[in-house]
Amino acid sequence: MNTGVGIPLPAAAPGWSVEADVVVVGSGVAGLTAALRCATAGLRTVVVTKARLDDGSTRWAQGGIAAALGAGDTPEQHCEDTLVAGAGLCDTAAVRTLVGEGPDAVRRLIETGARFDRDTASGRLLLTREGGHHRRRIAHAGGDATGAEISRALVEAVRRAGIETVENALVLDLLKDAAGRAAGVTLHVMGEGRRDGVGAVRARSVVLATGGMGQVYSATTNPAVSTGDGVALALRAGAEVADLEFVQFHPTVLFLGGDAEGQQPLVSEAVRGEGGHLVDAAGVRFMVGRHELAELAPRDIVAKGIMRRMRERDAEHMLLDARHFGAEKWRQRFPTILAACRAHGIDPVTEPVPVAPAAHYASGGVRTDLYGRTTVPGLYACGEVACTGVHGANRLASNSLLEGLVFAERIAAEIVSRTPEQAPAPAQAPAPAQAPAAAAGPGGALLAPEARTAIQRTMTSGAGVLRSADSLAAAAAELTGLAAAATDRLLRDGRTADPCVESWETTNLLLVSRVLVAAARAREETRGCHWREDRPRPDDARWSRHLVARLTPEGEIALDPSATADLPPTRPPHPSADAREETREHA
Ligand code: SIN
Repeated sequence: MNTGVGIPLPAAAPGWSVEADVVVVGSGVAGLTAALRCATAGLRTVVVTKARLDDGSTRWAQGGIAAALGAGDTPEQHCEDTLVAGAGLCDTAAVRTLVGEGPDAVRRLIETGARFDRDTASGRLLLTREGGHHRRRIAHAGGDATGAEISRALVEAVRRAGIETVENALVLDLLKDAAGRAAGVTLHVMGEGRRDGVGAVRARSVVLATGGMGQVYSATTNPAVSTGDGVALALRAGAEVADLEFVQFHPTVLFLGGDAEGQQPLVSEAVRGEGGHLVDAAGVRFMVGRHELAELAPRDIVAKGIMRRMRERDAEHMLLDARHFGAEKWRQRFPTILAACRAHGIDPVTEPVPVAPAAHYASGGVRTDLYGRTTVPGLYACGEVACTGVHGANRLASNSLLEGLVFAERIAAEIVSRTPEQAPAPAQAPAPAQAPAAAAGPGGALLAPEARTAIQRTMTSGAGVLRSADSLAAAAAELTGLAAAATDRLLRDGRTADPCVESWETTNLLLVSRVLVAAARAREETRGCHWREDRPRPDDARWSRHLVARLTPEGEIALDPSATADLPPTRPPHPSADAREETREHA
């Protein structure tokens, strides 16, 4: 299947178009923040989103947003915890930017209308802890409905500001001008209305805020819209992506059976932050003694601890015991989780909750600098779709909403500062924006929607929480086979799968899966959330570096281990922790 640079998804020529200064693709915390700041500065801003404005990943975020807002806490301490969780791969400058600008960014979010939980007597923000944080620094809302509240506040602000929005629109490809600069996007609007079918939003600045790619796996905490569309678009546009091998598996996702598929209910780390314990079927707290922070160790360590115990006990899940909270605390502090558990017949007030790890967050993504600029001029990325260098090999809990907020604001400031030179060309002399080739003729091959399940199963068994050279080689072969079958069909029959949302999404899933697997094969070490059973230790000499990937015009995946100038040391092993056990397990 040819998915090379410049070869777009096959689609009809745009039947309608809209002009703007900025098009923001995605409507989570990152997208809406970027849009609000651009619009407030007077730029014509259009938001394009795949479902409804409030349907992205942000609304599912439970735990909260991390920032040094509490008495005695400092950005330096937040920086330290972030670097430790990132296992030697965070870009320190990006982390300093995040933690330094974070507290004021949260205050601005509050001014925008987000209502966080506060102590009724003092009015102070209530702060909780999550894995890897040595302090209480996670602000939350509605108990465990932080993302929903942030989404509500931002959606209302966007509506108040009168920002034009295009909902139910799957972004297809980047438009570029003759100089290779971003010039807008093509998109397909689902349903009938003023604009439907394939269209274009033409703008000199394109902000990708499309969220993650959790749907490459069978079970994930991500909503159905998280199909890696932004990363796939960026790759086809010639942009670099980085660190795709670092997929974070959330340790505690409600276990609904070994064959459960699609979006699974999250059981926030904040449950452990408030004193919930992980136990096995015999009631043993197996994380105690494995790490100084026990259940609140960084997320990769807890996920590994659970997986190991599951293996040792031949169990499909572990248990999260927070019965001691009592009914009132469960109701007040964790109403969303309580309702999700009860909907599945489990009452956390009277019984431990079955949990197992599931795909949760892409720490890598479209490579950006500190201003959200990608390697394609005029194309920016923020939020989960981006790789700013903040997360390194493993994202610290609740840093993602903060990252979306901080870097979206930086992108908006950058775009606004360039406005004079970005003024759109006068109407009588429109700047030539090249439509993707598909608008004029055939593009690459499309994958039939039925291939989605095969991709998800392949990724789950070959490139999931545990990987090895063999499992990754098998996954690569399966994915190559799917791609080859689509190309063969195109060559043999002169036709491809019908262009439709499902086939575009499935084609995107395949592309990002192939790059993820290629990167995971190349990184012959264990680091952060990339856990290679055949290479159980970090290899700092070879791999204290990011792995940058791009597509060639021929559709090959080119990988470049890019040296990083400023790497902190790899996480020092805790005396009782991972390193010894890994040695034993893999000896
Ligand atoms: C959680 O509430 O456990 C998720 C928070 C996060 O992913 O940062």
